[in-house]
Amino acid sequence: YEQQALEAIQSAGDPQRIEEVRVEFLGKKKGRLKDLQSVLGKVTPEERPVVGRRFNEIKNRVQSAWEQKRDQLAKPAAAAEAIDVTLPGVSLPLGSRHPIAQTIDEFKEIMGRLGFSVADGPEIEDERHNFEALNIPLDHPARDPLDNFYLATAGRSSDRPLLLRSQTSTVQIRVMEQTAPPVRIVSLGRVYRPDAIDATHSCMFHQMEGLMVDRGITMADLKTVLRLFATAYFGDDVHVRFRPSFFPFTEPSVEVDMAWGDGWLEIGGAGMVDPNVLKAVGYDPEEVTGFAFGLGVERFAMRRFAISDERGIRHFYDNDVRFLQQF
Ligand code: PHE
Repeated sequence: YEQQALEAIQSAGDPQRIEEVRVEFLGKKKGRLKDLQSVLGKVTPEERPVVGRRFNEIKNRVQSAWEQKRDQLAKPAAAAEAIDVTLPGVSLPLGSRHPIAQTIDEFKEIMGRLGFSVADGPEIEDERHNFEALNIPLDHPARDPLDNFYLATAGRSSDRPLLLRSQTSTVQIRVMEQTAPPVRIVSLGRVYRPDAIDATHSCMFHQMEGLMVDRGITMADLKTVLRLFATAYFGDDVHVRFRPSFFPFTEPSVEVDMAWGDGWLEIGGAGMVDPNVLKAVGYDPEEVTGFAFGLGVERFAMRRFAISDERGIRHFYDNDVRFLQQF
């Protein structure tokens, strides 16, 4: 019995078969263990303790061999439910830096190589820094409340009008107020204008202001710096064109275009710092001259990334992941 039982247990290959083996060899009702037990009834009273012990030993061995096999056969099913370490992992979505932030970093890096350090200024400004010191008189149309985001400051402890800066030229004043010439800085940040929004205009956009003041600075230095900058950013020779223009804080003033395809793209304004501005910050216009420029950061990014569809500049502020993922 034991021999046959152990062999049957060993050769059982699946949970169903091992159950059949249990019924056959260990079944309580009519299994072969039952037959063996009936032999016990036939032995003499003297033989009974010995035979009984033998019976129990055999029964226990078969029982534990059977249990071991049952557990072993159950394992593969359990293993299938556990973690399969050979499956490829699930990658976590990684964010990336916003294209405008990337562009600003690159601008700072290029201008740093040209010797310009980075200056910063507040986005909420007063009229002195946004207008007066920049030689923009009270009656100038640029100060029209409809062309600026004035803050509701009336009735506050100080009734000094405040506004969201409309240009980064404010930082020119802040830097010159605090440092003696020579200066060579750029400042990058947001500016705000209540313009109608379309493919190339937004009520908030970014500018890079540049300012260089020293003895003997000329328009030629301005053009050289802008051309070197555009060439460094686009990685090949870019033509830069000046068109006569007017800004209250520069004289002479120019609009700056760069060649794009068959035409030109306006990238900002520039000029020689007006003597009135130098005087407003305590510089001596007889001693130093300087140039200043203000470039539209988005214009450069749109050209670099070939964004020319009708959504245009708005792509940068939509926060559509499908757009942002591409950078
Ligand atoms: N501040 C001007 C603008 O926003 C640009 C500019 C900057 C022009 C510096 C001249 C000098 O349009």
